[in-house]
Amino acid sequence: MNITMAKVMLSTILVFLMQLTFAQQETTYLITDFDGGGILPNEWQSYGDLGSHGVVSAKPNSDGKFYEQIWNGKKDEGYIVSQSDITFRIIPKKKLKEKTITNVFLRMDINCGGAPGTKINIVLVDGPNDCCTNDVNWQYSFVKNTCEWETIEINLAEFGYAYDPNNHEKSIDITKVGRVKIGVDIFSGTERQIVQFDNVALVVKDKVEVTGYDDSTSIPENSRLKSTAKDFLVGIAVNPSRVQDTDYSALYTKEFNSVTAENAMKMRSIFKGIDEEGNLSLDWTNSDLIVDFAQANDMNIHGHTLVWHESTPDFLKTFEGTNQEFESIIEKYITAVVTRYKGKIDSWDVVNEAIADGTSDFRESVFLERMGTDYVKKCFQFARNADKEVKLFYNDYNLVFDSKKQKGAFAIVDDLINSSLIDGIGYQMHIDYNFPNKLALKTATDLIVDRKLLVHFSELDVKTNPKGSIKEFSEKRDMEQAQKVYEVVEVYNAIPNEYKYALTIWGLKDDDSWVTPRYGFPDWPLLFDSSFGKKKAYSAFIQALQN
Ligand code: XIL
Repeated sequence: MNITMAKVMLSTILVFLMQLTFAQQETTYLITDFDGGGILPNEWQSYGDLGSHGVVSAKPNSDGKFYEQIWNGKKDEGYIVSQSDITFRIIPKKKLKEKTITNVFLRMDINCGGAPGTKINIVLVDGPNDCCTNDVNWQYSFVKNTCEWETIEINLAEFGYAYDPNNHEKSIDITKVGRVKIGVDIFSGTERQIVQFDNVALVVKDKVEVTGYDDSTSIPENSRLKSTAKDFLVGIAVNPSRVQDTDYSALYTKEFNSVTAENAMKMRSIFKGIDEEGNLSLDWTNSDLIVDFAQANDMNIHGHTLVWHESTPDFLKTFEGTNQEFESIIEKYITAVVTRYKGKIDSWDVVNEAIADGTSDFRESVFLERMGTDYVKKCFQFARNADKEVKLFYNDYNLVFDSKKQKGAFAIVDDLINSSLIDGIGYQMHIDYNFPNKLALKTATDLIVDRKLLVHFSELDVKTNPKGSIKEFSEKRDMEQAQKVYEVVEVYNAIPNEYKYALTIWGLKDDDSWVTPRYGFPDWPLLFDSSFGKKKAYSAFIQALQN
């Protein structure tokens, strides 16, 4: 097919207008049955020429009942592609913009001939067939282990961005779907591979739900984060100088009912040295300031954090004593801190970020080195010994989408559960305006709820410039960030009340955030702008709790 034809095809848009309220039951839109029926009955072609990608035959099978693609080679890929664009306007487009769409599925029958273990990719492409020139290219992959006909249904919300590893967009705008591409990647198996497809359809179950931030509705002037969130605490990361600054403290106390010390309760802030007899020198100036501020204003305090590789004093890293001596110093430290704030601090992140990125293994640290792989458990035990009542949390980042890290973290957590040493998990919510998607947030949150632990979304900030591509904060990013905040709050609020703890925001104003200094790009990750003004993200937080 040449480019002109592709352009002509592109203009073939099938529009279904179905009002939100009328679609109460399952509705199926057949795209093709490869037998003359459906929206695009015959316009399917092999991707690339026959002969490329190992494809030797690709056609509706001789009885016309299904589509069959055959190719040779143990390691290759092949696709069939609908040749016309499909735009499903199942609800008015305006409503869909940047929102989460639920209850829409792509359904098809699928079979593989003699090659169990074949990886099948279903791809939705925005634009022409070729993968890599498109702006939008969503993919869902799965492995088909048995070779018999099977009907699969894929939630559109589960499609992940396919080809651009730098683009983390994972949500799908159904109005933008250009082509359906059904493909197979072969990594091993027999020489001759066959995959068959039939009855490709879009299915709307129950009703299409579209949720998200609505810019056209304003929130009441007297809304407050803490009073709108009825079933959980809304926290803010603070530091000593800001709790003493009335511009900050006025907003802290107005909007929030919980505090986390951004840095003042970390080891480097408190732990200043060890003398010859092994006595610890501890400086409580900054941590006390925050505890006093929170108590004076009747705010909850979440302690952060007893052990963190990034806040290890140098004298611990170079400590020359035995491992046993090292461990006893850590025990003394944890005991001293937890005991000092017993009855004042409600919860502690005991160990922060113990798993290395992209792995299920422990992160290298002096604690691992000196105390062994049981170090996390030992620290939890020290904290528990010092205070029977305080809630103990494991806190980490990327657990929503880094599946290996998630596995490693939950191995630690499950071990702690078996020893009755843990009360909750903190998901640090350092996320991007377009990533991760709501379904991923929910699925990962369920892992905590399933274990009957408290959920803390502990360090929310939403990067609007993760790749450094913008110089100024745009209206578009403002909206997108608000939508992401809306999703986070929606997912949090849907947790059964008994497992809700707090949703903590990692800083007040955009220009206070750790994000810009850390990542080197200008960013606007928080709910208030640099003049203490409420951003759309603030309104989205409120709206998500009201809807
Ligand atoms: C950050 C603070 O925001 C910065 O001010 C400091 O320089 C480094 O630490 N994960 C955590 C937090 O658990 O403690 C970190 O806070 C951000 C990442």
